[in-house]
Amino acid sequence: MTAPNIETIVSLSKRRGFVYPASDIYGGLGSSWDYGPLGVELANNIKNSWWRWVVYERDDIEGLDSAIIQNRLVWKYSGHEDTFSDPLVDCRDCKTRLREDKLDTNDDGKLVCSNCGSTNLTESRPFNLMFRTTVGAASSDDDPSSLAYLRPETAQGIFTNFVNVLNTSRRKLPFGIAQIGKAFRNEVTPGNFIFRTREFEQMEIEYFCRPEDAPAIHQEWLDGFHEWIRSLGISDANIKDYEQTKEELAHYSQRTVDILYRFFPEREDESKQWDELMGIANRTDYDLRVHSKKPEDAEGKRINPDSTEDLSYFDPQTNERFYPYIIEPSTGVNRTLLAVMMDAYEERTNDKGEVRVILKLKPELAPIKAAVLPLAKNKPEIVETARKIKKDLQPAMRAVYDDTGGIGKLYARQDEIGTPFCVTVDHESLVDNAVTVRDRDTWEQERISVDQLKQYLTDRLSR
Ligand code: GAP
Repeated sequence: MTAPNIETIVSLSKRRGFVYPASDIYGGLGSSWDYGPLGVELANNIKNSWWRWVVYERDDIEGLDSAIIQNRLVWKYSGHEDTFSDPLVDCRDCKTRLREDKLDTNDDGKLVCSNCGSTNLTESRPFNLMFRTTVGAASSDDDPSSLAYLRPETAQGIFTNFVNVLNTSRRKLPFGIAQIGKAFRNEVTPGNFIFRTREFEQMEIEYFCRPEDAPAIHQEWLDGFHEWIRSLGISDANIKDYEQTKEELAHYSQRTVDILYRFFPEREDESKQWDELMGIANRTDYDLRVHSKKPEDAEGKRINPDSTEDLSYFDPQTNERFYPYIIEPSTGVNRTLLAVMMDAYEERTNDKGEVRVILKLKPELAPIKAAVLPLAKNKPEIVETARKIKKDLQPAMRAVYDDTGGIGKLYARQDEIGTPFCVTVDHESLVDNAVTVRDRDTWEQERISVDQLKQYLTDRLSR
């Protein structure tokens, strides 16, 4: 079972502290979200899983953390200033602002407003999605050179650092650079909770290779990411590939495959249940060329007269100099978190006939690994023992102590936030120096000696 819809996750998130509406006490800010105590842990665990899999478990990737605000020229030569826009239309009847490319047409082939059904829409016009800001004390009206942008993707900071990383890490092709960080897009129609927001986080790899190797490496990354997504506990039944058509491909891309997740299982039309979780593009040598000082256009003019660096690669084995092709797997942290929560969601009826929610997160992703619960909080010896057990576990795993309710309520709360194990300290514990360990998924309980508890939990969590 997975969550029946995104709304279920919205309410669980708010109820338990995964994600809250941002600026809520001032009425919120459209499609901005804050990550609460559990959300920040889950997001960090997803990012750590990605980083470990990409940077530590491979031998051909270096990490990077580039600046959010870059020289404006980065966005000029990347093409974002001219082309990073959505086609915008306004409904003249209900005044809603809409993305033309997301609208349905009626029987006469006319675009229909998704809010009120009217066909009385304005002509489409491009709307640039980059957030503008100014650098320094001047306003961009007084001093146009102070204009800057918040990055709309992390990728460009990797391209501009290609030579830095190549030289300092003494790498040879093929190799990649990985980066996790915030990106900002002034989306025309954000929505569906954290699926499309104006501030979000990306995990991107730019993998540099010889042009002739690019198609096979593209396929390897696609297969690899299916494995990684599976390792997060997401079921294959809710994942599928979408090969972008020639018309849909970005101007720099030779091939892009999107990996889709079933974010909208409630929709009757099966084809509308899916949307993009991540994309894997073959960006060719476009990026390193446009940021390089040397390449020329058909008339012999430098395509980039502002760059001070040539980002070509010299292959000492073949004595060739060329611009590497780039394979780019790009994943959204927030969409991954949403997919992980939806896929882990389960409802189960207990023997009293009550419906309980269980978030069957992989232990690696669970915000809390073990909750230590005293059976009687008015018994100082039990409380003291439970607190001591929590303290002993903490260096090895994220553990919490909780005595804010009866044991049934505490179990239900931990099930709902995905804690794999509850450790209960009872009267008997004071005599036999053992505790009850309850498994989130089976609700089975086992008596474990306190001396062996840390090792027992560590083993079970790593399965
Ligand atoms: N560098 C390539 C790039 O940025 P993209 O398809 O525009 O490609 C990559 O974005 C991923 O970033 C998407 O698959 C999605 O997971 C995430 N993403 C993009 N826009 C987003 C938004 N407005 N809100 C949340 N996530 C977003």
